[in-house]
Amino acid sequence: MGKMEDYISEVSKWNKELRGFLESEDVDKNNELWQRLDHFTDIMEGITGPLNIQELEKIQEQVDGLHSDMENYFTNRQRVGNVYMNEPYIAAGKHVLPPLPYDYKALEPHISGEIMKLHHDKHHQSYVDGLNKAENMLQTARDKGDYSLVKHWSRELAFHGSGHYLHTIFWNNMSPKGGGKPSGALLKEINKYFGSFDRFKAHFSEAAKQVEGVGWAILVWSPRARRLEILQSERHMLLTQWDTIPLLVLDVWEHAYYLQYKNNRGDYVKNWWNVVNWKDVEDRYLKASELKWKPF
Ligand SMILES: [Fe+2]
Repeated sequence: MGKMEDYISEVSKWNKELRGFLESEDVDKNNELWQRLDHFTDIMEGITGPLNIQELEKIQEQVDGLHSDMENYFTNRQRVGNVYMNEPYIAAGKHVLPPLPYDYKALEPHISGEIMKLHHDKHHQSYVDGLNKAENMLQTARDKGDYSLVKHWSRELAFHGSGHYLHTIFWNNMSPKGGGKPSGALLKEINKYFGSFDRFKAHFSEAAKQVEGVGWAILVWSPRARRLEILQSERHMLLTQWDTIPLLVLDVWEHAYYLQYKNNRGDYVKNWWNVVNWKDVEDRYLKASELKWKPF
């Protein structure tokens, strides 16, 4: 008898959690999921004493049904517009320092614990702070319609944004159990383009050693060329944010407008909006937004 009571109380708790979850997700009250859940809540609240086998089976049937409904919900919300929007994202100024996925000393003797602590706690944190500040200042600029400092804050956005995103990749790119060679599909790609893992490693190492000043060596996937490439990033902040995907671009090199607009870039920019192909931008957005990393 005790077991059955435990089960009922577990299921009741689960029922409450599901209700809280659907509310937090802003699921429409007319959604079928709510109707099923309301029905289930009625059943659970109607329980006054011990259940017979049929009643218990009925509850288990409901639990199974709701389980598969929830699974469908999770599958669909990857695709359905309004529900999809409720997935977590990082609002302006809300980035946080991701935890290091291992101890500071875990990479010793190759990288000392002292470096890891300083690098993660101080340097990465300052990128997070700088990125939040830049985003907040640009939010204020949008609110006030005052873009007099847009150049400065865009630079900060790129510098600290790249710093935050690249370090977030960097920590996970390393592991105390690391080393050796990749396997499977990635190794195939490496062999296909670079010839062999050793050739890739030599190229990547030289790219890293020869970065002018400070920066990064970066192995990238090019969705356009549909293959790997090795890049150097000097300083990482030349007005880009690594780990982002371009959706809408406007060429303001002089060759793009000078013959017609001379030095009047403003008119070119103003008129350019008349030819933007939003369908293409939307398509790029839909494709790009399928790629999601854990938010930080
Ligand atoms: Fe760093």
